[in-house]
Amino acid sequence: MKTKFIEEVEKIQKNLSSEIKNIINYFLTHETIEKPHIIKILSLQKDEEDRNYIFKIANLIRKYYTGDFINIKGVIEFSNYCKKNCFYCGLRAKNPLIKRYRMSPDEIIQTANEAFHYGLDTIILQSGEDDLYTDEDLVNIISEIRKNTRLPVSLSIGERSFSSYRKFRKAGAVRALLKHETINRKIFENIHPDKNYENRIELLRYMNNLGYVTGSGNIIGLPNQTLEDIADDIIFMRDENIHMIGMGPFIPAKNTPLEHFSAGNAELTLNAYAATRLCIPRVQMPTTTALGTISQNLQYQGFFAGCNVIMVNITPDKYRKNYNIYDNKIKVEFYQTYKKIIELGFSPSPLTQKRMKEEINVSK
Ligand code: 5AD
Ligand code: SF4
Repeated sequence: MKTKFIEEVEKIQKNLSSEIKNIINYFLTHETIEKPHIIKILSLQKDEEDRNYIFKIANLIRKYYTGDFINIKGVIEFSNYCKKNCFYCGLRAKNPLIKRYRMSPDEIIQTANEAFHYGLDTIILQSGEDDLYTDEDLVNIISEIRKNTRLPVSLSIGERSFSSYRKFRKAGAVRALLKHETINRKIFENIHPDKNYENRIELLRYMNNLGYVTGSGNIIGLPNQTLEDIADDIIFMRDENIHMIGMGPFIPAKNTPLEHFSAGNAELTLNAYAATRLCIPRVQMPTTTALGTISQNLQYQGFFAGCNVIMVNITPDKYRKNYNIYDNKIKVEFYQTYKKIIELGFSPSPLTQKRMKEEINVSK
């Protein structure tokens, strides 16, 4: 299989600039790339030939290193209460304009059942940092969902204690997401009033040690962020053995301290996907809703830049419209996404395909 991969790479390599050729050759011998390579990829402009080639290589690496399926994961945004005040986020505690909601454990479990019938690959339980759900509540929710659907459950609930994460792991949660947002300490502290830089990194390491498939990620286009900072984020995630990476452009959110800053660059976000695929070839990497909010087409372009995951939103509509991390957040809907993946020439996972076939047979 690998020889075919190298053959295909060599075919593409013919017309490349020597700098890009060197990056690809480095990848072929090391199965990763280094910071200067990443910065070069990040700086490629939209109409450059070299950029097309790097995207093609990223796409090939996705194909040969990750099993050549696009995983569709379902997100349940079960509470938009948050005790934190991240400067960029619409859900911050000090934003009085958000209509707050909490789903009951039963509602969450019911919603997760839908994931089963779609054949989603993972159920992501996402919320602001909301202590009203006790560890026991979450343990029950996780074990019920595991019992009913047998699907992997992923937690995206912010910084809870180390011991909570230990309990959730035991209850059957197998994945956990905690974005480091930026590894540049100064930028981090500028946008996080509780300046909890170290705790987050320690918690990420702890999750990894507990055996979670661990996810992290960063925001592209934060105030004062350079390409070097973004390269540092990617290298950090490689060196910490992060398995899943969510990277999205910054989108200004009304009524937050960063509301008048400009949005992150969507094309740069695509470059970051490609660079990440070359740096961490086996990583699970969604093309993000934040990118889709700038342009849905660009979110689909993420698949051609090395992404192999997309998250669809299965939160009941009456709640979903209030989960406004940023303004005009789009709804990534299951059927539309499934169809688009096939239309673009990619394959959803065998599980998703199987359930969709069953559904067609039932409706015949
Ligand atoms: N723009 C882009 N991403 C954001 N997030 C929060 N606010 C924004 C924003 N304004 C992302 C962060 C956080 C997750 C909840 O959403 O990465 O981890
Ligand atoms: Fe809360 Fe997360 Fe938003 Fe920060 S980014 S305010 S922790 S929901």
